[in-house]
Amino acid sequence: MIGQFISIEGIEGAGKSTQLAFIQRYLIEKGIKLVVTREPGGTDLGEQIRTLLLTPTETAMAVDTELLLMFAARAEHIEQVIKPALERGDWVLSDRFVDATFAYQGGGRGIDIQRISTLSDWALKGLQTDVTFLFDLPVELGQQRVINRNQGIDRFEQEKVDFFQRIRESYLSRAQHEPNRIKVIDASKSIVEIEQQLATLLDNLIIN
Ligand code: TMP
Repeated sequence: MIGQFISIEGIEGAGKSTQLAFIQRYLIEKGIKLVVTREPGGTDLGEQIRTLLLTPTETAMAVDTELLLMFAARAEHIEQVIKPALERGDWVLSDRFVDATFAYQGGGRGIDIQRISTLSDWALKGLQTDVTFLFDLPVELGQQRVINRNQGIDRFEQEKVDFFQRIRESYLSRAQHEPNRIKVIDASKSIVEIEQQLATLLDNLIIN
């Protein structure tokens, strides 16, 4: 069996961390060798870039800087972690990948999608996820969950509701265009229902 590349996506408060832990447990129980990683990050250099990206700054970061830093971290991640794992036959489970850039920097920040596509073609060199689970929920609900988490707020979480609304719409429109790769999961459902849906989708991936 060749390695499968899975990513999970969603706006803040969509419950990604809980679901990531479930997917990890489920696949390991099935005997799959799995590398769990995240973006931005996943490598030493990538984690340093993550800190730059998430730390609130007094002067706003230029949107192109943000975009290029995302791809810089991703280039390192692909070379050091993702490609070697898939070539070994391991599976990769990444908390976010390139769909996040189209949604956040494209939808959220308003950068022309064509420019992001050009960078994506250049950095990914044909690599794409086999399946992406998009955890979708109303923005207000996600924001409430972030507040209840009672942790510090990062540079993205400081943004207003309409920023996340554009991101949500952008994710959903990508899912509509690529229904075979991007599976939308209603993150406002109960954990049990979400886990059942994930188990079915993961079983399909294991069989194929
Ligand atoms: P996290 O909340 O999933 O840990 O991700 C960190 C933040 O980085 C989150 O607000 C989404 C943002 N992000 C982008 O804006 N573009 C990207 O390409 C990625 C991977 C993350």
